Amino acid sequence: MHTQVGIIGAGPAGLLLGHLLHLKGIDSVILERRNHEYVIDRVRAGVLEQFTVDLMTQTGVEARLHREGMRHDSLYLSFAGRRHHVPLAELTGGKAIYVYGQNEVVKDLMDARIATGRPLHYEVQNVSVHNIDSSKPAIHYEADGKQEELKCDFIAGCDGFHGICRPALGDAVTFYDKIYPFGWLGILAEAAPSSEALVYTYHERGFALFSMRSPRITRLYFQVPPDEDIDKWPDDAIWDEMLKRLSTQDGWKPNVGRILNKNVTAMRSFVTEPMRAGRLYLAGDSAHIVPPTGAKGLNLAASDVLHLARAIASFYGTGKTDLLDQYSDTALQRVWKTQRFSWWMTQTLHRFPDENPFDYKRQLADLDYITGSRAALTSLAENYVGLPLDVSF
Ligand code: APR
Ligand code: PHB
Repeated sequence: MHTQVGIIGAGPAGLLLGHLLHLKGIDSVILERRNHEYVIDRVRAGVLEQFTVDLMTQTGVEARLHREGMRHDSLYLSFAGRRHHVPLAELTGGKAIYVYGQNEVVKDLMDARIATGRPLHYEVQNVSVHNIDSSKPAIHYEADGKQEELKCDFIAGCDGFHGICRPALGDAVTFYDKIYPFGWLGILAEAAPSSEALVYTYHERGFALFSMRSPRITRLYFQVPPDEDIDKWPDDAIWDEMLKRLSTQDGWKPNVGRILNKNVTAMRSFVTEPMRAGRLYLAGDSAHIVPPTGAKGLNLAASDVLHLARAIASFYGTGKTDLLDQYSDTALQRVWKTQRFSWWMTQTLHRFPDENPFDYKRQLADLDYITGSRAALTSLAENYVGLPLDVSF
């Protein structure tokens, strides 16, 4: 079997790459370890930057996003019992973020893939990559008990943080890593969102976040120790803690409802440099992880695959490899700026186990400064809606 681009992983990165390549008439095979339902049902973050929405719109996978997604022109920063309005659109010349679950993006991209008739294989086992330093790399895998070989011109490693592609880059790569001394306990609740905007809260008891998925579903998080056992948190205790941290002096609080899903996620910042070896190119979580505080994971995956798809299309169009050779440097410029912002949001809004009362007061002063300064708010807003990126493709 042969294809132009062998894509490993059918998360947002792999599916979007397949979609962009299809629009340029480039064929690909997508190989996914899990089954279709598992990939769709994974509950993940749900904030799209303006650029991601623009890219989806320009490439024709925006219909449901515009019907069901919720445009947010602002957010709140909350501390010392008060919510402070951050007018994102006003501060960024009209840009906004869109609340639309990552699994909805994945569903839309799967439908687009199916409509093209191009291959997407689920439940493939023992995937490995070979000859990445040659012009004909190959992917080996098992499907329905049969051993298969897929010869490619290029391999895209879109297999997430625990995939096999990053280890296959070999020794010439450097990993930059930061582990945070906390995680997030997250819930989906059957409760109408009680605020029209997200609320990021710095509280004495630790960080908390109010978000949503739909007019009926609220999404909430709070900071816990990184290895917290979710079984230690019965539903009543979760609501008790959520209400303590999120409620503000003006009487605002989240609506309480049945908890549909709960879990604990550890937090880290991680970057692979370069994001490539030979003809194996990484994109998305296989190359980098951000803490969820800025909701950037999916958006970074989208900017990686836009750069990669452009580079591959340029190769087939002109025979030139210059964009492919620059891919890692180009992608990493945005990756590092986004890492900086996600780290900054994280350290500004969380309590650290080794901090002292000085640190606590300083963090409050930091938030007081940010919410009182148009310059500081503008910096936050332009990073939060996403730094400018040309989506032409
Ligand atoms: N073979 C085939 N598929 C694999 C393998 C493998 N060996 N290992 C992992 N996969 C699949 C996973 O099952 C998953 O479906 O690769 C996919 C990777 O998807 P994601 O983890 O969603 O990563 P990515 O597409 O880069 O999307 C980044 O996802 O993790 C969130 O917050 C992150 O929003 C960000 C986005
Ligand atoms: C979410 O809605 O899941 C969400 C929102 C904002 C974040 C992280 C997650 O920063």
